[in-house]
Amino acid sequence: MLGGRSRLNPEVGPELTEPETLRSEDGALQVRLEAVAGRLRIAGREATAYGYNGGVPGPTLRLRPGDRLQIQLVNRLDAPTNLHVHGLHVSPEGNGDNVFITVAPGESFDYDYRLPEDHPPGVFWYHPHHHGTVADQLFGGLYGAIVVEDVDALPVARERVLVVSDISLDAAGRLRQPSTMERMMGREGELVLLNGQVRPILTARPGERERWRVVNACTSRYVRLRLDGQQLDLLGIDSGRHAQPRRVEEIVLAAGNRADLLVTTAAGTGTLQALGVDRGGMGGMMGGSVSGDVGPLATLEVAGAEAAAPGPVPQQRLRDLRGVEVAERRRLTFDMGMGGGMGGGMGPGGMSFTIDGREFDPHRVDQAVLVGAVEEWVIANTSPMAHPMHLHVWPMQIVAEGGRLLDDVRWQDVVNIPAGGEVTVRVAFDDFSGRTVYHCHILDHEDNGMMGIVEAGRQ
Ligand code: C2O
Ligand code: CU
Ligand code: CU
Repeated sequence: MLGGRSRLNPEVGPELTEPETLRSEDGALQVRLEAVAGRLRIAGREATAYGYNGGVPGPTLRLRPGDRLQIQLVNRLDAPTNLHVHGLHVSPEGNGDNVFITVAPGESFDYDYRLPEDHPPGVFWYHPHHHGTVADQLFGGLYGAIVVEDVDALPVARERVLVVSDISLDAAGRLRQPSTMERMMGREGELVLLNGQVRPILTARPGERERWRVVNACTSRYVRLRLDGQQLDLLGIDSGRHAQPRRVEEIVLAAGNRADLLVTTAAGTGTLQALGVDRGGMGGMMGGSVSGDVGPLATLEVAGAEAAAPGPVPQQRLRDLRGVEVAERRRLTFDMGMGGGMGGGMGPGGMSFTIDGREFDPHRVDQAVLVGAVEEWVIANTSPMAHPMHLHVWPMQIVAEGGRLLDDVRWQDVVNIPAGGEVTVRVAFDDFSGRTVYHCHILDHEDNGMMGIVEAGRQ
């Protein structure tokens, strides 16, 4: 089957596997997710880590717009946890996408999410969101993909869900604890995995169009992905879409971002490379925090008879908030500081991680917005490190970067704010009332205070 390849070649991994797929039927999907700590298979070996339903990643949930998703979360960890459906446009209240819920060890909670009929298609994901332990639990293996299918399916030979994550294991296969410095910079794992595997092999025939749903589930790491020798067309980042797929050489995903990608194969062997992204440092004071080159993440082997040319990709209709009236303008500033000051400096190494000079307070509403209003937020970063800003429930349309207006429509739910830079977004606070959060998706920063609360109220 794998003819000609030496089994001793340490660079050649196993064939790619995908997590189990759980698919909605007749508008509903009911799932039981058990968060467990214990022996799991990660990177082709036994590890002592975390997983949903015994796997890393957890099962892939496939939904359609208008579906009802019910998840019974069972906590078999020795610490509190909860669940967040990252990027889904669903209510943040009650037993919806409510990150203020705590599920104690040994207990369970029934989540109930209702996707609107016009929910955007795309790739989303789920992970714990219990403030203070998000980085630890996600780094340990708790994440999985969610796909919301297109109403009109795209013509592709196959779809793949590719979850990129990182983890550090010691010689005995136990999770390695991050140092103070790693928590300051945002921990990056020594192993970078694709669906929990190291350098798996993907096979295809020449001329096939595949759809790759790539999730950057790393706790802090940014990745720049290349697949030289193969044709890449980007449908969009997060739930955003380009009107037409855009030919790309590489894609950069901040922690939490996803890519919806078309790969048109050409005969030969391609290597999916994860290259480095400079996400800044501490101004030389304490060394850098560059997300370094990982190298090969997977191998794509394309051989056999040429496939028939795939049909055209339907044009996407895009919502554009640039022409609409803005109800409110706000400015949010992400910063890091040494000790003292307003931030409190309770983070690792006496460092404070703040938004508008304040650390997260679960009892404080930082931004009160009106349901249905369109707002413009300038998100500034006065620190020497990049921060990927994430807003729950409502996607953001990026309208300017560093004061320069964009000439295309770009919707994302994680937006990188470069060190010393600023990005302007517009948000339509449609459909739902309630309290939820925005934060840095370098989850060590979020756990250490770089998070705020937005509350959508009715007039
Ligand atoms: Cu992916 Cu608030 O998180
Ligand atoms: Cu989220
Ligand atoms: Cu950050």
